[in-house]
Amino acid sequence: MIIAPSLLAANFGRLAKEVERFNASHAEWLHLDIMDGHFVPNISFGPAVVRTLRPMTKAFFDIHLMCSKPEILLDPFAQAGASQINIHVELGDHVTPLLWKIKSLGKRVGLAINPPTAISMVQPFLGQIDSLLIMTVNPGFGGQSFIYEMLPKIQQAQAWRRAKNLSYNIGVDGGVDFKTAGECARVGADAFISGTTLFSQRSLKAAVKKMRKIIESNSAK
Ligand code: DX5
Ligand code: ZN
Repeated sequence: MIIAPSLLAANFGRLAKEVERFNASHAEWLHLDIMDGHFVPNISFGPAVVRTLRPMTKAFFDIHLMCSKPEILLDPFAQAGASQINIHVELGDHVTPLLWKIKSLGKRVGLAINPPTAISMVQPFLGQIDSLLIMTVNPGFGGQSFIYEMLPKIQQAQAWRRAKNLSYNIGVDGGVDFKTAGECARVGADAFISGTTLFSQRSLKAAVKKMRKIIESNSAK
């Protein structure tokens, strides 16, 4: 089980301190949301920020590229310290070469899917990925409400994983709080990306612990 606080919800005025809070929290991954103002209607931060954070933590860096042209960003983020790079299935014909490129850079391969996109779109890629990231909000902003209609997608991803004997992570991203994390765990999710809920608590460590307990008691496995 993986808990991944999303840095998007951190205080950008004191990022180094926020990374220290993360380090003390014993969360597995640090989720880094990269927005280009084109694929999504918002801009976040780029490889220079990730490179700056890299020496501050041993954490697994989970890079989520919400970008129209990820091909120009894979090398920079790999060099900046990515552990895993997620690209979006909505990029169509570009998906296969992008997945191969991420693999060739020696990074774990992630594939993300937006709420309006049918889950069948990811099926051809399941054998090539380490992680499937099911968006449970329309990406672009933190603090949105979880879209319950996404639960059957998690269920389907779990059914495929079993049937094909694969081991990709099933991640959920957006509106994941202490209630929805449990509901996602029950249908097969095992990576929980959570921004606002975790970073808004005075103790990130206590928040991660609380979420872990809820996930464990609801886990499908
Ligand atoms: C949404 C991002 C998410 C976001 C989640 O565009 O991909 O990772 O930070 O934040 P919360 O938990 O606040 O919905
Ligand atoms: Zn994200």
